[in-house]
Amino acid sequence: MARILSILVGLFFTVALAWSFGKGAYTQITEPPAATAEHEFHLHPKELHLASDGPFGKFDKQQLQRGFQIYKEVCSACHSLSHVAFRDLAALGYSEGQVKAIAAGFQVPGVDPTTGEANTRPGLPTDYFPKPFANDTAARAANNNAIPPDLSLMTKARHEGGPYVYSLLTGFQAQPAALLKEFPDAKTPDGLHYNPYFANLNLAMAPPLTADGQVEYSPGNPKPTVDQMAKDVSAFLVWTAEPKLEKRNQTGLAVVLFLIFATVLGYMSYRNIWAGKKH
Ligand code: HEC
Repeated sequence: MARILSILVGLFFTVALAWSFGKGAYTQITEPPAATAEHEFHLHPKELHLASDGPFGKFDKQQLQRGFQIYKEVCSACHSLSHVAFRDLAALGYSEGQVKAIAAGFQVPGVDPTTGEANTRPGLPTDYFPKPFANDTAARAANNNAIPPDLSLMTKARHEGGPYVYSLLTGFQAQPAALLKEFPDAKTPDGLHYNPYFANLNLAMAPPLTADGQVEYSPGNPKPTVDQMAKDVSAFLVWTAEPKLEKRNQTGLAVVLFLIFATVLGYMSYRNIWAGKKH
């Protein structure tokens, strides 16, 4: 009796599952979900190979310095880097004096010691990168109602962060005719810019890197083409998001080696303990 009952219950669930699957598949075929421009024209990030990729990855300090230069001369006009202090830049190979000079080149919020009024003063190595706008209202007012996000953790906040930033910076283009033909309502609104790597295809940032040689690299570095500058600043933002990456890779490697050693040791002692017994 119990056996028949359990077969019936099993049968009931099987039929219910098959039915709902069939129904779902049928609606999917007869009434497919409406296509959207985002779904059809959004692109996956391009490939970008950085020295810091992979379990043995190490930062290319020369490239990070170039990337920092791009951030400083271009992106810092709109984007903050709140989680990075000037003294952290020592990790890119800058000397103490250079870090001091870089910090002093930025104005950070301060207090007038005589009056107690808020003012600004040149940065110190212990200061963090200052925000470019006084507040969100000012940021919106200057950027077509969008707030430029903080870039410190951007490459962690987006899927495939490094390649994403690189693709975004090099991905600005005219809206494809095919898109407008298929979705006449999806025209890029005034003040926004078409970029297939951005999730909703139109973003409020104008292309920040527009001309080869926009930034001047010191001798011994590659030519500052738009592509090269985009790569370098992406590498820099991979560093800001995870400055301890090399240390983490090293620790991981040491742990894996230790675990392999411990496994071999464990197996040998197992053989030793059971050596006299018949298997
Ligand atoms: C003139 C101001 C301005 C400059 C200069 C600028 N940006 Fe932006 N950026 C913006 C604004 C505004 C947004 C927000 C766009 C939106 O949400 O539509 C943004 C968004 C971004 C995003 C986030 C995209 C996302 O997925 O949310 C990244 C990454 C970015 N900028 C990188 C950079 C880099 C790197 C530079 C320097 C090479 C730079 N930006 C220079 C204004 C600027």
